[in-house]
Amino acid sequence: MPVAALGALTDHKMTQSAIYSRVVGTGSYLPARRVTNQQLADELATRGIETSDEWIVARTGIKARHFAAPDQTSSDMAVEAAKRALDMAGLNADQLDLILVATSTPDFVFPSTACLVQHKLGIKNGCAAFDIQAVCSGFAYAMATADNFIRSGAYRNALVIGAETFSRILDFNDRTTCVLFGDGAGAVVLQASSEPGVLSTALHADGSYANILCVPGNVNAGAVQGAAFLYMDGQAVFKLAVKVLEKVATEALEKAGLASSAIDWLIPHQANLRIMSSTARKLGLSEEKMVVTVDQHGNTSAASIPLALDVAVRDGRIKPGQNVMIEGVGGGFTWGAVLFRM
Ligand code: UT7
Repeated sequence: MPVAALGALTDHKMTQSAIYSRVVGTGSYLPARRVTNQQLADELATRGIETSDEWIVARTGIKARHFAAPDQTSSDMAVEAAKRALDMAGLNADQLDLILVATSTPDFVFPSTACLVQHKLGIKNGCAAFDIQAVCSGFAYAMATADNFIRSGAYRNALVIGAETFSRILDFNDRTTCVLFGDGAGAVVLQASSEPGVLSTALHADGSYANILCVPGNVNAGAVQGAAFLYMDGQAVFKLAVKVLEKVATEALEKAGLASSAIDWLIPHQANLRIMSSTARKLGLSEEKMVVTVDQHGNTSAASIPLALDVAVRDGRIKPGQNVMIEGVGGGFTWGAVLFRM
């Protein structure tokens, strides 16, 4: 038995009839409007806000981001990413048993973005559909949730999406946050398989840090009560992110019985190149093993990991049989990792 399969015994208990979940398709979508740092800096200057390409690149690694059109929603982008993932998987939308959308920028308070995606994909089979709200860890949470549904035998085909229009919750008068985020969507199709697939998952949260990264508003009597803009204590988030990303990756590796050297590709949440590089270093991985899209996408929250995964699958870097570690960290505070074999 290969070492990795032995490792899988510890987390995803293997029996004669073990079911695993496996990624059989990936897809992504970026809105057409691409805004470089210089373009954003020029736009902000007209409001008297000072920033520069140099500052943004040096502090974050971001060079550009995409912003959705005014009439474009998270579900619109999710559908485009989903179609591409379904196409790669060779599945019809009606073969899906489950749709999960990780988002903090849903189209509406309700219904869920997942229900809107189901309808826009023309699905009539009544499959389960719901949103997952774990901010930038949302995709790791959603993938772990779908993995559990599939391993339990409840469902066979799951569509897992991360989709965000963070541009809608950015305060373009706050230079400490508005230069960091972008819009987009990424998706995977997870399918039941006798071979792994997902090797281990690890999810965590600590609500005592709710105030360091939040949109502290709600709808009340037809108006927003509180603030409808993203607030972040960047340094507090930075310190916590560096700590938990290493810890949760190590936990996922231990659950799978694997050493970090078994990771072929590391896909951390794409928030800040400095955080990502520090995580790779702490895991003893060279930067060449890390997929980086933050430079071109900015921080797209729950969409960042599936966007990066799809880019690296489609450009041929990630190959069948390779081990991929995804890990997210974000508001809540939440963090999580999923280790899987392509
Ligand atoms: O997605 C969820 C996870 N999120 C993250 O992981 C984000 C974590 N945090 C970060 O990535 C970093 O903390 C930031 C990129 C947000 C900020 O970087 P930093 O190195 O922590 O900068 P700072 O907040 O310490 O600010 C340094 C200086 C300040 O000026 P003074 O006080 O030193 O004079 C800021 O006012 O940079 C100034 N500054 C800017 N200058 C030009 C802040 N934003 C800007 C800006 N342009 N856009």
